[in-house]
Amino acid sequence: MDVVVVPTAVDVATYAADLVAARIAAEPGMVLGVATGSSPVGIYRELARRRTEGTLELSHLTCFALDEYVGLAPGHPRSYAAYLDREIARPWGLASSRVRVPEASRPDLEVAAAEYEQEIAAAGGIDLQILGIGTNGHIGFNEPISSLSSRTRVAALTAQTRTDNARFFDGPDDVPTRCLTQGLGTILEARQVVLVAQGERKAAAVAAAVEGPVAARCPASVLQFHPRTVLVLDEAAASGLTSGTCLRPVPGRGDGGGPRGSAPAS
Ligand code: F6R
Repeated sequence: MDVVVVPTAVDVATYAADLVAARIAAEPGMVLGVATGSSPVGIYRELARRRTEGTLELSHLTCFALDEYVGLAPGHPRSYAAYLDREIARPWGLASSRVRVPEASRPDLEVAAAEYEQEIAAAGGIDLQILGIGTNGHIGFNEPISSLSSRTRVAALTAQTRTDNARFFDGPDDVPTRCLTQGLGTILEARQVVLVAQGERKAAAVAAAVEGPVAARCPASVLQFHPRTVLVLDEAAASGLTSGTCLRPVPGRGDGGGPRGSAPAS
């Protein structure tokens, strides 16, 4: 695991966008795994900005979402399908057929889950997966005690996640109780992972993921097994780390680097 610490949330977005953009420039038809939620929005908007200024072509990508709520009507504005249409398909100039989301409004959810796995495999697998992290250490909607080798499936959301995500809805009771999510085993098959976290409320989960034991009680800790993962954190999200893992300057800051920062795996 590489850990890069930059001063602010804006720096997280820029740094992570640089990583993702470099990969896209080298391989414009790559398969990108896209998290939803607030953490990656800055990355998506920065990539869209580069597309608008003409320095980055995004229309050849294929994107796969991590998860979708069960129980929202198709087209619901809080669905992840709607989020990806707003933040990715339209601003990136991507045909909607190139942005895949688990089909969580189908009656046969187990079949939908299996077919999603097949779709990812048929696309050649995920080249780069963008992740956020929940305050309880979840990635995707793999909540604590998920199997570390789980596959795409129906899962229940914890009370903590529903409370955290109430800000996107009218209130906690409106947050769905179930989802279709890629499993931890599915996520681990991505060739490269970029996890971003901002703010003090993520600090405990980040510390458990990076420095804790690999354990189902912190699902993100399974990334310790992934050979090519970089965490891009602002100082607040990194504030629970104790082991001084990040020592190299942050490229491009021109001041010799911040207090901490290590070059990510290329
Ligand atoms: C989103 C997802 C979740 C979020 C996590 C953090 O597709 O799968 O794991 O990344 O809940 O959410 P935010 O970024 O809103 O704090």
